[in-house]
Amino acid sequence: TSLKNYNTFGIKVKAKYFVAVSSIKALRDVLTLKGYPNKLLLGGGSNMLLTQDQNKLVIHINIKGISIEQEHNDFVLVRANAGENWHEFVLWCLKHDFGGLENLSLIPGNVGTAPIQNIGAYGVELKDTFVSCNAIHIKTLKEATFNKNECNFGYRNSIFKNEEKGKYIITSVLFKLTKKNHKLHIDYGAITSQLKAQNINNPTIQDVSKAVIAIRESKLPDPKLIGNSGSFFKNPVISKTKFKNLQDNFKDIPSYPVSKNEVKVPAGWLIEKAGFKGKRFGKYGVHKNQALVLVNYGGAEGSDILKLSKLIQKTVLRLFDISIEAEVNIL
Ligand code: EPU
Repeated sequence: TSLKNYNTFGIKVKAKYFVAVSSIKALRDVLTLKGYPNKLLLGGGSNMLLTQDQNKLVIHINIKGISIEQEHNDFVLVRANAGENWHEFVLWCLKHDFGGLENLSLIPGNVGTAPIQNIGAYGVELKDTFVSCNAIHIKTLKEATFNKNECNFGYRNSIFKNEEKGKYIITSVLFKLTKKNHKLHIDYGAITSQLKAQNINNPTIQDVSKAVIAIRESKLPDPKLIGNSGSFFKNPVISKTKFKNLQDNFKDIPSYPVSKNEVKVPAGWLIEKAGFKGKRFGKYGVHKNQALVLVNYGGAEGSDILKLSKLIQKTVLRLFDISIEAEVNIL
């Protein structure tokens, strides 16, 4: 099976064994199949770079369904199954006027993989509305529930990238969303100016979503048109001392506060300063509007993009003495 349509980078690699499952029962059945010790789980394929044909059993999680589990005066608990497309789920919430996910509009990928890296954008992270998730243990097939605390969420991080890496398959996620008195997060510069440009003074959650969509469409390539995996790197966290030293040479270096002694520097800025923004190397390159995004113009090999990412890392390290870490999974 070609995996080209199952990864947003649009890399043409093959899976030796491929199966799509649309229920927990089917998932359990597949997990009990003998003779496939190595498995690769595939959700929306939006956070991976495939660099070679896969000999593992590729399991595409396609379990659909959204349901309101509890309805209260001012909030609801909504469960979305892992195979739901993230953005379509956000739109479903907005249609029902359930608030909390509007800033996370248009993020590629599926619901089931969103907790793994605690997806986040424009001042909001998945963890802000996350209640719990259900998951199947790959070896024992037992179902487990992880509440928010147990997930150990951090910036682009969770227990599923650490202690429990590769051990569970998330089957559904439960969210707590507002029904009224929505709490808007519109302080992020780009959102403020987008709303202002449209003369919107009292935005609704739908307005916020539209603003986020407009910002993303202006900066980020649409994976349906140009293969990509969103931010290829994480924004590095560095000490304030190091940041002050960098400021001596680079007066305009931006940063976000992290803790008393640390700040986060936008990797996109470092990569742009290193001269890579908009650089094209034949079939692949660095996006022209956001240097954090590596792109496949069509027909690139995963290994080409991996090579480019290493060159970028090396150059950023040499220029700024900062290591930037890939955010996408290299497979
Ligand atoms: N910047 C540059 N050049 C660039 C890109 C960015 O100088 O080419 C500078 C901008 O001028 C700005 C700063 O970097 O001062 C931040 O840029 P932006 O608002 O675009 O956000 P980001 O830090 O580059 C992060 C997330 C994005 C998310 C945005 C908005 C990570 C790794 N990325 O990017 O997430 O959409 O913030 O909240 O944290 C993703 O994870 O796939 C993703 C797109």
